[in-house]
Amino acid sequence: MHGATTRRGALSALLATALAAVLLAAAPAGAKQPEDVVLNVGHRGASGYAPEHTFAAYDLALRMGADYIEQDLQMTRDGVLVVLHDETLDRTARPTAESGPGDCTGLVREKTLAQIKTCDVGSWFNEAYPQYARPEYVGLKIPTLEEVFQRYRKSVNYYIETKSPEAAPGMEEELLRLMDEYGLRRPAAERWQVLIQSFSPASLQKVHALDPSLPLIQLFSGTETSETIQARLDATAAYAVGIGPSKDDVDAALVGAAHARCLDVHPYTVNESAEMEGLIATGVDGMFTNFPDRLDAVLGESAIDGRKRAAALAERANDACRGEEERGRRASNGT
Ligand code: G3P
Ligand code: CA
Repeated sequence: MHGATTRRGALSALLATALAAVLLAAAPAGAKQPEDVVLNVGHRGASGYAPEHTFAAYDLALRMGADYIEQDLQMTRDGVLVVLHDETLDRTARPTAESGPGDCTGLVREKTLAQIKTCDVGSWFNEAYPQYARPEYVGLKIPTLEEVFQRYRKSVNYYIETKSPEAAPGMEEELLRLMDEYGLRRPAAERWQVLIQSFSPASLQKVHALDPSLPLIQLFSGTETSETIQARLDATAAYAVGIGPSKDDVDAALVGAAHARCLDVHPYTVNESAEMEGLIATGVDGMFTNFPDRLDAVLGESAIDGRKRAAALAERANDACRGEEERGRRASNGT
């Protein structure tokens, strides 16, 4: 669906171009320029239409034009990274005939992979969203991160979140081990094939210490404001390439302050077309959405053709900003 022209998309492109011209004139040297790519991140896959964090939701997101598919990580008692948003199984998992008592309730980190693999994470969706229900969602399993890598290999871009990392020691090391096993570490560094995100600065700083070349996104919770996030940008820029604020905290001041530090801005979770248009006009560099088709339609012809190209262009723009910033710093130091 990338490249589809819509009247709304054309209007949005016009608005974005006009605002970009204004922001460009005001941007300090070395600042990230606002005319760059807007990345379409399928939040838990196309989770508005299919059960979150299932292959059905990921496949659909990719068909709908998502540049990235998102994974939230939890770790099982036996140390396996699985893809599930909540720390507990209760909201989205249902027992099946294979399940023992309690296998599909409670904390993921207190279950073995074998227990978790008995659970069905599709049925809840059919009950909650009958308008999108499909019989084939019944019985869908929680994927491991390794199964996600095995299915898509290097054909997609991954946007991976370390969830509650303080409760799962070793999560970051295991993530990097799997990225190494599937040959994803270098393409992550070179062309943002994997972006690693977290609400936890400590988790991202740990990844940064393990491998400073990896691109990291610092998430900020909805309890923050534009101002409180701005106050943390200098510290964030020491290890991250971008920020993930709640959509309600994004304004021109935050985008300008982030771009002045070469930090990309990827708000979450943006589901309405009008909100998407507003955020694009504010100059964001991408966004998480449960409805990647809507963002693709809003972007229209300005959507980048090809997800690999989109990620590579985003990396290049960020890298160019950092290069210019460094040259500016050296020039002012006379070195
Ligand atoms: O990772 C971006 C966004 O997903 C953060 O919120 O709770 O949906 O993981 P959450
Ligand atoms: Ca997330």
